[in-house]
Amino acid sequence: MNILLIGSGGREHAFAWKISQSNLCNQLFVAPGNPGTAGLGKNLNISITDFEGIKATCIGQNIDLIVVGPEEPLVKGLRDYLKGFPETKAIPLVGPGKDGALLEGSKDFSKGFMIKYGIPTAAYQTFTKDNLEDGLKFIESQSPPIVLKADGLAAGKGVLICANHADAKMQLGEMLLGKKFGEASSRVVIEEFLVGIELSVFVATDGDDYVILPEAKDYKRIGENDTGPNTGGMGAVSPVPFADESFMSKVENRIVKPTMSGLKKEGIDYRGFLFIGLMNREGDPYVIEYNVRMGDPETQAVLPRIKSDFVELLSHMGNKTLNEYKLLVNNFVSTTVVMVAGGYPGSYEKGKTIIGLSSSNQETGLSVVFHAGTKEGENGEILTNGGRVLGITGQGETIQSALSNAYDRVDKIHWEAVNFRRDIGQDILKLTIDASHQ
Ligand code: AMP
Ligand code: GLY
Repeated sequence: MNILLIGSGGREHAFAWKISQSNLCNQLFVAPGNPGTAGLGKNLNISITDFEGIKATCIGQNIDLIVVGPEEPLVKGLRDYLKGFPETKAIPLVGPGKDGALLEGSKDFSKGFMIKYGIPTAAYQTFTKDNLEDGLKFIESQSPPIVLKADGLAAGKGVLICANHADAKMQLGEMLLGKKFGEASSRVVIEEFLVGIELSVFVATDGDDYVILPEAKDYKRIGENDTGPNTGGMGAVSPVPFADESFMSKVENRIVKPTMSGLKKEGIDYRGFLFIGLMNREGDPYVIEYNVRMGDPETQAVLPRIKSDFVELLSHMGNKTLNEYKLLVNNFVSTTVVMVAGGYPGSYEKGKTIIGLSSSNQETGLSVVFHAGTKEGENGEILTNGGRVLGITGQGETIQSALSNAYDRVDKIHWEAVNFRRDIGQDILKLTIDASHQ
C-alpha cells in the first residue's frame, strides 16, 4: 500500500514509525512531515491545508490510503474535498468529514450532541455578543472556578479556567467583544468545573464498528505537580491504573456506545479516530471534550503498545471493514516525556542546536525519540523549531522501569534553555503503590 500521512508533529512521527514497521506499507509519504519522519518515509513540502497539493499527490503517487493526523484539515473539510473528485473519491481516508469534525470544531455542537444523546458532561450554556448580559448574569450564578471555552478551534488555547467571577466576566467580554480568539470566540461555552482525574480514551471507528485503543494519561500543565499554564501536553503514560475493567465498561456503555449511535442517528459516517477527554469524577466518567484525531503526546505512548498490525487497523477504518480486525495490545508500560523550548507555552526561541541526538540511534528498544518541533540545519544538524520539540518514549515491564528508560534518554539530549517535567507518571506511581498496600 502507498500511504499518505498528513501532519508534522510528534503524533505524526509516531504514526510514521508504526506505519513503516508494517509489511503492508509499500511507500510512505508525509505531508509535510519533520526530520523524524524523513528517515521513515518521504517528506513532501505540502502544507496540511493545501488540499490541491494533497489531491495531486494522491493521484501522482498512486496513494491507497490517506491518514490525517491533525484536526485542522478535517474541520476544514479535506475528506469532503477529496470525495468531490472522481480520481480521489474512492481512496480510503482515516479521518471524519466536516460533519463529524464538528465534534471538535464547535464546542457548542459537541455539548449539544452530548446532551441530546444522554452522554455525561459538565452542565453548560452558550453565549454570543448578542446575549452578553445573560452570560455575565450566568457567571454570577455559578460558583468558581468558572470554565470558559471558545466555540471554535483556537490552537489548543481556547479554554480558560477563571478563579473568580470578576476574571470570568472580564474574559467573557474579551472573548465575545474583543475577539480574543478571533472568530473562534464569537460564541463562548460557559460550563461547570469538573473535579477529578483526567483520562484520554481513544476510539478507532469505521462508522459501524469500533475498537477502544489503550488509554493514556496526559500531563497538561507546564510545571511539575500540575502547576502553571496549560500546554499541548508535557508527557503521557499508558496504561492508567484507575482505567480498570469496571471504569472502562462505564466509559464504553455510558459514552462510547451512545456517541457511536448518536453519530449514526445524525447521519454522520464517521471514519477515523475519536479522542474522548474524560474526567473521572469519583469513579464516574464525564466527557470534557471530543477531539476528532489522536492525542499528542498520548499517541507517542499509545502506539508502541499496539501489537496487532497498525496499517491493517488504518485500512479497515478507511474501508469500513473494522469488524474483521482484532486489536492486540502489548502489556508493557509506555511513558512519554516531552522536551520543550524554554519559555513555552509563552514565547520561546527557535533554532537551537540539539545535542545528543543521532538519527542512527533513534531507537534502542527501551526508548524511542519522536520529533515534534524540529528542523534540519544547513549542515544536517537538528535544530529546535517549535515549543514542543521532542517526545521521548520509554518502555518497561513496570511504570518505574518505563520512566527510567525514558528519563535515561532525556538526560542524554540537550539544547540551550531546554525544559521538561521530571514528574511524569509520579501520580500514577503513587496510585499503584497505594493500591498495592491496600
Ligand atoms: P480542552 O481544550 O477542552 O481540552 O480543555 C483544556 C483543559 O482544560 C482540559 O484538559 C482540562 O484540564 C481543563 N478543562 C476543560 N473543561 C473543564 C471542566 N469543565 N472542568 C474542569 N477542567 C476542565
Ligand atoms: N494532549 C491533548 C491533545 O492532544 O489535545
